[in-house]
Amino acid sequence: MDKTKRKAVIAGNWKMNKTPSEAKELLTAIVPAVKDADCEVIACVPYVDLSVAIETTKGTNVKIGAENCHWAEKGAFTGEISTGMLKEMGVEYVVLGHSERRQYFGETDETVNKRTKAALAAGLKPIVCVGELLWERECDITEEVIARQIKLDLFDVTEEEVLNTIIAYEPVWAIGTGKTATAEQAEEVCGFIRSTLAKLYSQDVADAVTIQYGGSMNDCNADELLSKKDVDGGLIGGASLVAEKFAAIVKAASK
Ligand code: PGA
Repeated sequence: MDKTKRKAVIAGNWKMNKTPSEAKELLTAIVPAVKDADCEVIACVPYVDLSVAIETTKGTNVKIGAENCHWAEKGAFTGEISTGMLKEMGVEYVVLGHSERRQYFGETDETVNKRTKAALAAGLKPIVCVGELLWERECDITEEVIARQIKLDLFDVTEEEVLNTIIAYEPVWAIGTGKTATAEQAEEVCGFIRSTLAKLYSQDVADAVTIQYGGSMNDCNADELLSKKDVDGGLIGGASLVAEKFAAIVKAASK
């Protein structure tokens, strides 16, 4: 992390875990444990938990995010949630293009781009996820894959808007597998993302954008990952469901 240039951000991605009562219990434990954080703290929770999450974190330094949103304002999209619905609830962030959405729900760079633009237009801050498959890394095309995702996912996103966007580098082979990228691998790709942003926008803009690492980040490896200059935080799955572990990662990012 380079805190002189940008904000460190630790975001939990709860995925399809925790009922509303469980969400309340977990956030009630997280709030006091992260109250002195010197980084941004976010919990991205299932839609049905948003209301209780916002209520439980009111007046604290924990911000709430959703895990997806649709690009249309309203209409015949059964099962989808609009940006306006999230905004009205008080949601501030939204995870977009997570590899699980791409893998299981047919999300493409085109739909990620539409969702990103809609989120930004509504005043939500997107956490846009990119990352290569193991097979792509083995074929030595990680940089091509990442550059393509960044270019397509951020197509037509203005300079001003990209400053309100967080990029999460999540190598697909490291998610939920216990296989963390080494700190060097994380730094290499986060640095590559920054240089791609510099080409698309400018070096100043690239230097100001928060780029997280995600994929089996936990209380034991956070220190090392976050010591890298281009790793500005983490998108945390499994470890965000345990208050002590999540708080320990926040502590590592607060140094
Ligand atoms: P993980 O998930 O920390 O459980 O690997 C990260 C993510 O999918 O955002």
